[in-house]
Amino acid sequence: MYTPAEYQKLVNDFLASMPYDRKPTKLYEPVQYELSLGGKRIRPVLMLMAYHLLKDDVESILPVAIGLETYHNYTLVHDDIMDHAEMRRGKPTVHVKWDENQALLASEVMVLASYQGIMKGNPDCRHRLLEVFSETALEISEGQQYDIEFETRDDVSADEYIEMIRLKTSVLLACALQMGAIQGGATDEDCDLIYEFGVKFGLAFQLQDDLLDVYGDAKTFGKNIGGDILCNKKTYMLINALNMAEGQLAEDLKKWIAATDFDPNEKIMAVTSIYDQLGIKNICLDKIREFYSQAKAAWEKMSFPVEKKQLLWDYVESMLYRTF
Ligand code: IPE
Ligand code: IPE
Ligand code: MG
Ligand code: MG
Ligand code: MG
Repeated sequence: MYTPAEYQKLVNDFLASMPYDRKPTKLYEPVQYELSLGGKRIRPVLMLMAYHLLKDDVESILPVAIGLETYHNYTLVHDDIMDHAEMRRGKPTVHVKWDENQALLASEVMVLASYQGIMKGNPDCRHRLLEVFSETALEISEGQQYDIEFETRDDVSADEYIEMIRLKTSVLLACALQMGAIQGGATDEDCDLIYEFGVKFGLAFQLQDDLLDVYGDAKTFGKNIGGDILCNKKTYMLINALNMAEGQLAEDLKKWIAATDFDPNEKIMAVTSIYDQLGIKNICLDKIREFYSQAKAAWEKMSFPVEKKQLLWDYVESMLYRTF
């Protein structure tokens, strides 16, 4: 068994050892840049941990784990264009450092590289891995489409939001776990349970990301604070604020959502202050805890030895307190 930091090191060392000697250099520079900026590496770590519940030779699945991480990084490059985000992992985003054309080309390379990695999976389960992965990739695009559509709607329900984040975020975390379990030869029942566990954890993870986007510190979070507020993202926080605000507070919130010409910092401060007055942070934290307990219920049903699956729970639980 490894610690999460040791799994992360396996992933980072493997990524660093991958040759990028192809040309034209300008095509591959942003790819290498995005992949070398680090990040938590949660998805490959989850895949390795899931595999380790069943088998010991975790290094053998590194190409597949890196394939999935590469796909995640592709989604981030596109997401940053869509969200007008200028900072990620404490550094300028790809479309800012280069331009949108370079970002689009680099992300195509990342999609293809992710398939190349997954194709290196054991032939006995390769087809299944590709099926799970391709379906997940489609769902992520569906989630991102809803995310964008919701920006210009003001009647998005909490259920619609949860379904949107299930698609854009949860399924990739669940897929990472399930791909680890598939490669380890888990039973169909355990493959389903670990997926369910990943979905519930993923919902909490995205809620936490949304919370940090308002209440985090850019230095540790690595992204500019308030980006979601500026884009009118229909987060669980904004949806609840829209439902709860009354009188002057409701008018102010609607005014800021409709505003087209404003000082960004002023809007972020004003909307955050409305959240504060409504106690939105605690509402969000309660929902995060609810999804954690649902994740725990699925985790408890998984048939792996408790001493092994405890590590997985501890890792996932540590994300509950993340500030990054
Ligand atoms: C960011 O994912 C996108 C979301 C799904 C919230 P991570 O928070 O896993 O980003 P990195 O890879 O650690 O930077
Ligand atoms: C992340 O949503 C979903 C995907 C990248 C698919 P966000 O837009 O909240 O992610 P960050 O905050 O930019 O990392
Ligand atoms: Mg986004
Ligand atoms: Mg974003
Ligand atoms: Mg976010």
